[in-house]
Amino acid sequence: MRKVFAPLEFQSLCEEFRASGKRVGLVPTMGALHRGHAALIEEAARRADEVVVTVFVNPTQFGPAEDFAKYPRTLDADIELAQAAGASVVFAPSAEAMYPQGDETRVKLSLLPRFLCGEVRPTHFEGVSTVVAKLFSLAGRSVACFGRKDYQQLKLIERMTTDLFFPVTVIGVPTVREEDGLAMSSRNRYLAPEHRAKARAIPLALDRAVAAYAQGERSVARLEAVAREVVASEVDSVDYVTVADSQSIELLQGEVGERALLALAVRLGGARLIDNVVLGEEGSPLRGAS
Ligand code: PAF
Repeated sequence: MRKVFAPLEFQSLCEEFRASGKRVGLVPTMGALHRGHAALIEEAARRADEVVVTVFVNPTQFGPAEDFAKYPRTLDADIELAQAAGASVVFAPSAEAMYPQGDETRVKLSLLPRFLCGEVRPTHFEGVSTVVAKLFSLAGRSVACFGRKDYQQLKLIERMTTDLFFPVTVIGVPTVREEDGLAMSSRNRYLAPEHRAKARAIPLALDRAVAAYAQGERSVARLEAVAREVVASEVDSVDYVTVADSQSIELLQGEVGERALLALAVRLGGARLIDNVVLGEEGSPLRGAS
């Protein structure tokens, strides 16, 4: 397993891989790796010859009152998991290396960051698109894997990749779930046992909306209400439970068509947790649970 800390060394390494005929797979992460990340690495390994996992807790995507300082940093364990899942390189730069003195370039999308998480985290997606653009510039031609749990992030990265002509193929990988259906997330580590038990309401809420949709329910308001009712009483607060267009993420009103995103964000015991399902495309998150 090769460990790289300097951005330009990482860039040269990816160029060397390609020069020797190897395809590069990229898995950007903030570390605290879990089975969901392992699935991203395994998917990248199926599509590429050398898989690079980036581990960088990106300061620009955290708001001033958010969990940047307490975000888990577990590099040694991350390297072990990444290697076991099939990665050959870990790129773990410092904040100073990624944002050196004088850095002032930011990548900002106009519409996609406005909805859902963007409403409560107004600077978050600019930080995400900026750091992912930097990583794509360094990695060059590659296949990059991202989780569908961060669905809005995935759509934004797809849009940015097209708009900026990055030679990167973006792959959305299905969410990996715990036995009770809770989506794997580095932030699940924040949950005390009583909060972890209550978190089961999150996939249950999505399950109820999937069932209502399967029974013919098409009203946006009623689909949102079905999911909200299950989750609201179990969590500390609800940021949103929203039905949106599955491509543009724009909020829908009235009736949904053939497919629609149902996404939610809740706060529970100090953690902010998100999850989603694409109605008309995916089944219940409880069925996919391991
Ligand atoms: O999904 C994440 O872990 C992060 O938002 C990403 C894409 C690695 C950018 O920092």
